[in-house]
Formats: sequence, structure tokens, C-alpha cells
Amino acid sequence: MTTEICAGIHYVGVNDRTTTRFEALWSLPAGVSYNAYLVVGERVALIDTVAEAFGSRLEANIREVLGDRKVDYLVVDHMEPDHSSSIAALRRLYPDLQIVGNAKTLQMIRGFYKLEGGMIEVAEGGTLDLGGKTLVFQMIPMVHWPETMVAWCPEQRTLFSGDAFGTFGALDGGIVDAQIEPDRYWDEMRRYYACIVGKYGVPVQKALQKVRALPVETICSTHGPVWQREIGRVLDLYDRLSRYEGEPGVVVAYGSMYGNTEQMAERIARELAESGVRPVRVYNLSYADPSVVLRDVFRFDTLIVGSPTYNGGLFPPVAELLDRIAARGVCKRKFACFGSFNWCSAAARLLGDFAQKMKWTLLCDPVEMCQGFGPEWFAACRKLADSVAADR
Ligand code: FEO
Repeated sequence: MTTEICAGIHYVGVNDRTTTRFEALWSLPAGVSYNAYLVVGERVALIDTVAEAFGSRLEANIREVLGDRKVDYLVVDHMEPDHSSSIAALRRLYPDLQIVGNAKTLQMIRGFYKLEGGMIEVAEGGTLDLGGKTLVFQMIPMVHWPETMVAWCPEQRTLFSGDAFGTFGALDGGIVDAQIEPDRYWDEMRRYYACIVGKYGVPVQKALQKVRALPVETICSTHGPVWQREIGRVLDLYDRLSRYEGEPGVVVAYGSMYGNTEQMAERIARELAESGVRPVRVYNLSYADPSVVLRDVFRFDTLIVGSPTYNGGLFPPVAELLDRIAARGVCKRKFACFGSFNWCSAAARLLGDFAQKMKWTLLCDPVEMCQGFGPEWFAACRKLADSVAADR
């Protein structure tokens, strides 16, 4: 069995199909891979490690490629512990291991893992000569931590990109995109981007400029497949997401305590469908997976939000969605909203205020229902849906 991606570059990462929440937050229905790579020249560099729980598998994978030959360098592109928490174990395994990172990386290694000595500091444009293979380092700060950098191997036209161009979803046997069914990863890539990297659109755009200036033939990220055939599609997807460009489509996201606001959501979605609007995705925010909702907020250009008034404010699951959106600075959205109240109206106004704060385009006035849903609200729901459909 070979794990060689291209001459002298080997995949030694692992799959995690047991962790249920990435960063203790985001669901992993299809698992996730922690990718690490060996670059073998006259000297050997390991690019990144894996989560500590999988350290013994990383070691076994390295030994399968190298036998008793040692690893000379560990290049740390990114310090989040899903990649860095095996560093101390690697150092114990290879006591002469030189750790390569930028100033911020090395400071974090000392802070997280209490390691000292045997470190090589690199900066923008710095190189590591492995003898027959070279690594050139470029900084991509805030994709999505401040120390993030990439390593470029010009001999193989291969970019080790850290989290950039990564995706949720474990590797089902194949490593390189030609060996897999890439279509199963696109939604997971959007979900990964929205949840993990979504706040950092400007830094991702700067990173993309650097990547596009290189004659890249292989992208080795820290999560998901190695990209070769699909590089164009991966770069386009990251480009679009980091520009917050939504594709045509509507997300209807609502909260509902006793089903009245929910009936408004259902009615609006039916009216949209009858008007020919596609696609429409409807989420009850008390039950929907937040990462899936966030994924579709990033993916589609129009958002319709509904909320009951609760304690004089928004229903908490709705407020949580808005917090996630605000934290990621999602701009360029078209918006409509609806709300309900019993004795004191607040939700519809607060939703409108949020849209204004985000500088979103309001497609129509809010629909605000007092107390229970009934036929008297059909026309208002249709009017809202008509405004959205007219914008298509
Ligand atoms: Fe996959 Fe930001 O760590």
C-alpha cells in the first residue's frame, strides 16, 4: 500500500470518526481527518502532527514510510491542538528533532507544550533545504490563528496549506481527490469554512493571492483530501466564501415556542416554492444543527428570519444564530423577517435592527403577528414571499 502523493511526499495523517464535536462545538457526522505529511529528501521533514489521541497512529504511519530512519525537522504550519498536540510526543520519539516555525509559533509551542531548544525560526520567504527538496515558508496570518503559515515545495509544486482549503469529512480510503468521490466534500467544506474560518474573509483573500501566484499542482491541507484535479474548484469555493458572495437561494430560519411562528415560516416557505424560488432551506433553530444553518447562511444570498418575542427580546436560539453571523461579519445578504408577540412587540423590530447593523438589504417590511396564527396572516406571509421572489 502506498501513501506517496508525489515523489518523496507521503501522507501520514489519521482519521477521527469518534470525536463528536470539533473544537467541542461543531458536529462531525462524517468525521474529520488530521493530515500530516512527510517530505523526504536527503533529510526528512514532517509537516504538522495530529491530535494527541491519535499520536501512536501517526508514529506507526511515519515508521511505515521511514523504517528506522529519523525525522529531522517538524514544520508547524498551525498550532491549534488538533495538529500540534502530538509535538511533545514526537520530540520524545526523535530527540534531535528540530522544530520549524515562525516567532509566534515557537512562542505558542513554549506556552502550550513547555518545550525549549531545538527550534528554527523562519519568517516570510524563509527556506529549509532538505537536500533535493526545499520548503519555502509564507505567512498567512489569521487563517485562522495569528501564527498560520504555509510551506511550499517548488520541486513538487506542492503547497502544505495548513487549515486553508481544508474540510470536515474523514478520508474513506482515498487520499488524493482522484481516488475519492469529491462531491461528498463540498458541503462539508462550506460547513468547515463557515464554522472555523468564516470570520477571516480578508486574511483568506490575502492567502488566496499568495497561492494563486504559485504554480500549484498539489494542495495538502490539514483536513480532508489532498487536492490535485479539483484545485480550481477548491480555490473558487474558498474565494467565494471569503468574499461572502452568496449564490441564489433562501434560508428560512426561525424559532417557535408553541408553533405559531413556525406556521408563519411554513407558510412563507410554501409561498416561495409556489413562486418558483429555489432552493429554499427551512430550519427550526431549536433543533437544527447550528453548523448546518451557518453553512447555508454562508452559501445562499437571502436570509429570512422569524422569532417570537421572548422576555422582551429575541427567542434565544434566534439570538444565538444572529450572534454567530455577527461574529463572522457575514455581509452582502438580502433579508426579510417576521416575528410574533403576545402583549409587547419586540422581535420584529430587533430583527430589523440587526439587518441594519449588518448593512443587509431589506427586501420588505417585517411581518409581525400578534398572538396566534390563522388565515388572517396568509396575505402578509404571501406578501413577504412575493417580495423575496420578485428579487430573484
Ligand atoms: Fe485544524 Fe485550526 O485547526
